[in-house]
Parts: sequence; structure tokens; C-alpha cells
Amino acid sequence: MNMVAKKPVAMKKAFAAMTKAKTSTKTSKKASEHAFFSCKDIKSYYGDSYIVQGVSFEMKEGEILALLGRNGAGKTSTLRSIARADSPELRSGEVWLDGVALHDKPAHEAANLGVQLVQEDRHIIQGLTVKENLDLATISGAKGWDYERIYDLFPRLKERLNQEGTTLSGGEQQMLAIGRALSRDIKLLLLDEPYEGLAPVVRHDIERALIEVREAGITTILVEQNAVAALKLADHAIILDTGEVVFSGTAKEVLDNKKLRHDYLAI
Ligand SMILES: Nc1ncnc2c1ncn2[C@@H]1O[C@H](COP(=O)(O)OP(=O)(O)O)[C@@H](O)[C@H]1O
Ligand SMILES: [Mg+2]
Repeated sequence: MNMVAKKPVAMKKAFAAMTKAKTSTKTSKKASEHAFFSCKDIKSYYGDSYIVQGVSFEMKEGEILALLGRNGAGKTSTLRSIARADSPELRSGEVWLDGVALHDKPAHEAANLGVQLVQEDRHIIQGLTVKENLDLATISGAKGWDYERIYDLFPRLKERLNQEGTTLSGGEQQMLAIGRALSRDIKLLLLDEPYEGLAPVVRHDIERALIEVREAGITTILVEQNAVAALKLADHAIILDTGEVVFSGTAKEVLDNKKLRHDYLAI
């Protein structure tokens, strides 16, 4: 099942696709038939509890997908399955990123292949400064954005480099968590409720950064309770309910569908 509508993303991307099509050969046409990222019928369990119940979707490179649904719908479990965390356990289905299978790999290999999960609690390491938190992220594996580029994205981090990470405000911790993900060689950014607990003005700083991250070509899955805010940035949206996809389409389709919003998002 793949109901993802074909809506062009940013103009730049559409133009790039057009110019690519003009010069394409038979082999590049074949390559373009494959999604940049896909989940195929993934099923995950916590012990005997069957939680992610056959989730499938596809993404193009550079898209932002809003992954929505009520509390307990299975959003975090889906992100953790994609990042190949041990729990929940992915028992069947396939996860593909840029032509490489992730479903048969452990979390550290998925990370080395470009998957970075920013967890809801942000996982800032206690006792380490902002700079040391960034250093730790890049100790192993290929490097991504250099520090100056991360500080350009989040100037507040640069002002607080020697401050202990856990003493930052909620918004600054979120910036550090995203900065840390970008410091790795990243292809797919998974964000679990990045706006949680943030004042609107701080949320806007994060939103601006996510737009820059998209412009840099990074593909993002954004899980948010604040569905309206997530849909503002997203190209496509998936709605989960009890571990199953109940809607897949454009962000605009969700915003225009009152029943859908009422039934699954309470907005
Ligand atoms: N560690 C766990 N052990 C057992 N059940 C869990 C665990 N974490 C989450 N669940 C259950 O899985 C379901 C989906 O949870 P979750 O993925 O966290 O939902 P969401 O992120 O959409 O709020 C819920 O019913 C929740 O109780
Ligand atoms: Mg969650």
C-alpha cells in the first residue's frame, strides 16, 4: 500500500529533477523509480505486545514527512524501529535508505549509514559541556556538518559552548540534540517531538533551522503532538492509529480534512 501523493517539493528540487530527466539514461530512470527512503510493512514488538502493525511509506530525498497520531499511536515506536533500536524489536518488514537495507542491521550500523534519531528526552550527556557533547557525537563514524556550520544554524550554541549541556534551556537542548545529529554524516533525521515544552518563539527558531536543514538536502521525519506546526513544514503526512497507517497524503490534505483532524489529531 502506498498512497503517498506525488506533490512536487521545493521548486529547486523540481527543477533539479527536470534537468536530471532531460539527461537521463535508461539506468537513471530505473534508479528514480526507487524511493530515497522506504518502510515496507514493518512490524515491531515489545515482548509479546504487537505495536507497529505493518507500517509502509515512502519518501523522496529532501522531503519532510510529518508522522502524526494520538498519544500511544505508535509514532515513537515507528521512529525507533527505523533507527533499528533494540526496543521495540523489528520482527518483519523492510527499511531502505538510499538503496541500502537497514532492517538487517543494528542501531550503530544504521547510524553509520546516515540515520540519526533525536529522541524526545534529547539525551544530553550529563557532566559534559555543549562542545564536549558535540565532540562525543563525532568520536566514531563519518563526520557531517562542521562545527561552524552548526553554530551558524544555532548561534545560541556558540554562545554557550563551555556551559554544561544539561543546564541549557529546553530549546537550547533541542538545538544541541539536532546539532549533534548534523555533526554525523546524516541522510535521514528522525525528530521525536522537537517542539515539546517550547515557547512559540523558541519553536520558531527550531522551525527556521529545520527549513535550512531541508535546503541542505537532508530528509526528515517529524513526529509532533503539535500537528498544525508540523504540517506547516511538512510536504507529506502520515497518520498512525494503533500502530497502523490510517492516512497518507499531502500536508494540505490533512489540514483541509476536518473529519481526519477531528478523529485522529484533535485539531
Ligand atoms: N517500552 C515499552 N514496553 C511496552 N509497551 C510500550 C513501550 N513503549 C511504548 N509502548 C506501548 O506502545 C504503544 C505505542 O507507544 P509509542 O510508540 O510511544 O506511541 P506515541 O509515540 O505515538 O505516543 C503504546 O501503547 C505504548 O504503551
Ligand atoms: Mg511518542
